[in-house]
Amino acid sequence: MSADHSSRLYAAHLDTVRARADAALARGGFDHLVVPSGTLHYQVFDDRDYPYAVNPHFKAWLPLTNTPGSWLVYTPGERPKLIFLQPHDYWHVVPEAPNGDWVEHFDIQIIRNADDAKQHLPRNAARCAILGEAQSALGQYGAFAPNNPQAVLDYLHYHRAFKTPYELAMMREATRVAVRGHRAAERAFRAGASEFGIHLAYCQAARQDANDLPYNNIVCLNEHGAVLHYTDRDRRPPAQSRSFLIDAGGSHRGYAADITRTYAAAGHDEFQSMIDAVDAAQLRMCDQVRDGTDYKQIHLDAHLALAGILRDFGVITVSPEAAVATGVSSAFFPHGIGHGIGLQVHDVAGFAASDAGGTIAKPDGHPYLRLTRVLAPGMVVTIEPGIYFIDMLLDELNAKGQGDSVNWDAVARFKPYGGIRIEDDVVCTERAPENLTRDGFAG
Ligand code: GLY
Ligand code: MN
Ligand code: MN
Repeated sequence: MSADHSSRLYAAHLDTVRARADAALARGGFDHLVVPSGTLHYQVFDDRDYPYAVNPHFKAWLPLTNTPGSWLVYTPGERPKLIFLQPHDYWHVVPEAPNGDWVEHFDIQIIRNADDAKQHLPRNAARCAILGEAQSALGQYGAFAPNNPQAVLDYLHYHRAFKTPYELAMMREATRVAVRGHRAAERAFRAGASEFGIHLAYCQAARQDANDLPYNNIVCLNEHGAVLHYTDRDRRPPAQSRSFLIDAGGSHRGYAADITRTYAAAGHDEFQSMIDAVDAAQLRMCDQVRDGTDYKQIHLDAHLALAGILRDFGVITVSPEAAVATGVSSAFFPHGIGHGIGLQVHDVAGFAASDAGGTIAKPDGHPYLRLTRVLAPGMVVTIEPGIYFIDMLLDELNAKGQGDSVNWDAVARFKPYGGIRIEDDVVCTERAPENLTRDGFAG
């Protein structure tokens, strides 16, 4: 993308962000939007800080992700103002002065002490919608404490689901970061590396580490694939690496990618066939990401498709329909089909009924679904079906008297592989969906 095109995309994005802020302030009856970037948090009884995470409402305006103590102020009809904290400090790297294609759109005020922000904030805090964490309040009893008005948040969170062309460009770039990591991780797995070694290979190729990545890498060999959010990372390779599940992302200018792939080691043909079946089913699910489709329906259809695979591989003894109706499919697929993604890996407002509030309930029996909205152009969602062999859930099936629905010999054959998950990030458009992840791997 040329620098010129990128600047135009950003300018158009900012127009959308301003228009949304205008409407949100009108809904809440406020004159100014005030957004602290956030502050450092410290470990208890210690002077060590936790990794800083910027306020998502701040990075919605600016590609700044590592500038604690700064503020964004927007008053409808005026240029947005950035109050930028650049302390005099020889202990730490001081954020460099604002630069880049976005700077020309802001009035920028550099401050050297966090408290100096007060002088540049609107006079009357009561007329401000201040969005952020309580700890961002200026001075312990300062007037500028986040009030997070519900009407303002409801409006902004609901509309944030619809990505601007600039945001989609950022997410394509985040995908490129993650794909570099995934390729290196697969090579490391095939070379016999440990989970820890694979993780390091990922970070090196992605050129990102814990502070940059949008979530903690999930790197699983063998049975560890059955732990949905396994983040332990054994330092030693197992005697034999049979399977590899990696759920790892990337970030670009504050936007996330969230990708999962599963691999079988050479010679493990039955497990490879099951991966291929899940992969084919996952592609059909991705194709359901279309304008007007109820995301809940994709989740429910996924249960039927995955139960069909379990039946084809002889893991369950009942029909796919019966497995779904009796909850047996949930023992093998115990999470939601996915979630919205963007500024946050699990984006906000997954259940929002409208931009004025309200909640769309999850289907009965599906407590872990994170998104219940009807899809529309601009939304980006993950599609991440999985099949796992989890002792705890299989024991529960047995305890409930549903053990006859399962072929335990087949379970014993698959358990050493842990599980399968395949996850892509998919854009709903006016026509066919855009699969950011598949395009990223193809590029
Ligand atoms: N990486 C966490 C998730 O897929 O939601
Ligand atoms: Mn995900
Ligand atoms: Mn994931």
